[in-house]
Amino acid sequence: MNKLPMLLDCDTGVDDAVAILLSKYLNTLELVAVTTVAGNVEVEHTTRNTLQVLELADMGHIRVYMGAAKPLLGETVTAHHVHGQNGLNDMVLPKPRREPEAMPAWDAIYEYAKKYNGELVVVAVGPLTNLALALAKYKELPQLLKRIVIMGGAAVGGNVTPSAEFNVYADPEAADMVLTCGAPVYMCGLDVTMRAYFTAEELDEIAALGSKQAVFARDVMQSILRFYRTYKLGGVAFHDPVTVLYADDDSYFQTEHAGVRVETKGRLTRGKTVTDLYSDKQMEHNAYVVTNLDRDIFKRRVFEIMAKYGE
Ligand code: RIB
Ligand code: CA
Repeated sequence: MNKLPMLLDCDTGVDDAVAILLSKYLNTLELVAVTTVAGNVEVEHTTRNTLQVLELADMGHIRVYMGAAKPLLGETVTAHHVHGQNGLNDMVLPKPRREPEAMPAWDAIYEYAKKYNGELVVVAVGPLTNLALALAKYKELPQLLKRIVIMGGAAVGGNVTPSAEFNVYADPEAADMVLTCGAPVYMCGLDVTMRAYFTAEELDEIAALGSKQAVFARDVMQSILRFYRTYKLGGVAFHDPVTVLYADDDSYFQTEHAGVRVETKGRLTRGKTVTDLYSDKQMEHNAYVVTNLDRDIFKRRVFEIMAKYGE
């Protein structure tokens, strides 16, 4: 099967790093470029982390384009308390051999969209500032994209406030621009990503695969396990990894066509993705919300891919 080109936009922190590792061995997508944005940590760190993890994955040939250092409006939000000072909870990786490209991320998104002329799949697993800037600068961009798959939002709940998920909360205006841009947008919010968890034992099973990449994946995800004990989840959510795997194969997920907009003004609700999924008051159905998955198949796919690093 001919694979579709994938551009990954990320704020490489811990789970973004595992999403990058999984991006090497997808069934229907081929990673062709990575753009970075401020989010979990500052954009200089997310960019360095991205270069390092690509090299760990023997994907050092994939070009990296640095993007926005702050949101479109409002205060910059980070998640150092989760991802540590450098974004990988101070895990040590070799100094990257390369620098990011000179072209900024928002121009790179447009260049790759033009190059692949309607076939490019953008998977965005951080705040959506780069995509929003690209949409604002290039009016024809939505028509040049196959689809946009985001890790962000939540039809119910939140993880930064009771009503907002981090990526959308970090840049609500950007998220609303992306959700209303006209390209097909698929939202992997907390509704599905919190169900895509690995227990501590299952993390150790990844490490037992033996490659340096598998051990790194376990170590880096184990470093945030403590934040999930309060959720009584029994494990750590693979927010960004499950988003990449959804983009690759949605057959074991539940997806609903829905109206989704972002609250940007609310004192208590800024960053909330408002959906009509659970309301008889319908909105224009402008996006697709992923609401569930078969966790066993998800886990199997993660193991299948991570095992390839040892082959
Ligand atoms: O809310 C989870 C999201 O915020 C993930 O993308 C994680 O990497 C952080 O960016
Ligand atoms: Ca992320």
